[in-house]
Amino acid sequence: MLKAKITGTGSYVPDKLLTNKDLVRIVDTSEEWILERTGIRERHIAAKDQTTSDLAVEAARQALKAAGVKAKDLDLIIVGTCTPDMFLPSTACMVQLKLNAKNAAAFDLNAACSGFLYGLSVASGYMSSGAFKKILVIGAETLSRFTDWQDRSTCILFGDGAGAVVLEATTGSNALLYTHIKSDAEYWDYIQIPGGAAKEPATRAVVDKRLTKIRMKGNETFKVAVKTLENLVVETLEKCDLKPSQLSLLIPHQANLRIIQATAKRLGLPMDKVMLNLERYGNTSAASIPIALDESVRTGRVREGDYILLEAFGAGLTWASALVKW
Ligand code: UT7
Repeated sequence: MLKAKITGTGSYVPDKLLTNKDLVRIVDTSEEWILERTGIRERHIAAKDQTTSDLAVEAARQALKAAGVKAKDLDLIIVGTCTPDMFLPSTACMVQLKLNAKNAAAFDLNAACSGFLYGLSVASGYMSSGAFKKILVIGAETLSRFTDWQDRSTCILFGDGAGAVVLEATTGSNALLYTHIKSDAEYWDYIQIPGGAAKEPATRAVVDKRLTKIRMKGNETFKVAVKTLENLVVETLEKCDLKPSQLSLLIPHQANLRIIQATAKRLGLPMDKVMLNLERYGNTSAASIPIALDESVRTGRVREGDYILLEAFGAGLTWASALVKW
């Protein structure tokens, strides 16, 4: 059976930095509180004229170059995002236009922070069915556009960025071995942007009430995330018949250092086997895993034959995991 192999990775973050020190000037917080409660020191913010597809294209170009694949040879472009350029057309279509990937189909996928892994899962299905042979999966966000800069409990968390992978069909065993996706909408209101869409169109009143911005029940989300991810990583390894000691690297969604530490502890995994970069990027939602994966590849933390576990948790609530043999 055909499997999906990651043959190239890429990532991009905008130049502008927003440090914890900068945030102290905006809301009632402290550098220490942010670092201790989240693990974040700084995040990158898109320039006024940059949109999600701009960030996505930068990451995609790198991934295509690393894979040695031409944009015109792509069969499919999937963009995991909850901060699209606009409602219509999809951000994936804008990426197709900018890459001149004439022969691809393109669509967005919204599973919030789990969007990239949902994208991998969909792509792996297309690969194993034989429908597509070269797929670009991107996670890209400009969360800063939807951040409530008056809400100290959320504005400290988010950053902008994009990561991408090129997947190619293979009959070999070094490939994406397993993906798992799941949702539980009972907690739909834990993380939301309630206004600006069909339910609450963007009237002046809706905008003034800041309903077009992200709202999060942080502590409630934290508790479900820890419990869910602890079970998810154990179950994923069981499904793949692997012991935690066989894992070379865990690449978690970068939302909160304490959540990541709890997940690693559940597996008995030392923190040096966990990819961490949220200190520098904050929570970039769907972009966080492909950015961390690209960084792991480029810094030599991933070698041929390594088993790598990816996991994510986000609004929906949604969660997902993937096991890759590099
Ligand atoms: O990526 C998608 C998934 N998202 C997540 O997984 C995020 C999960 N949640 C979190 O990471 C954490 O819940 C937060 C970092 C958002 C918050 O940390 P927490 O330890 O859960 O804090 P809390 O919300 O329980 O708030 C504790 C206190 C409150 O004060 P009182 O009521 O105890 O007086 C907050 O008002 O901390 C206060 N607080 C702050 N203080 C200083 C909240 N935000 C801040 C702040 N600076 N920025």
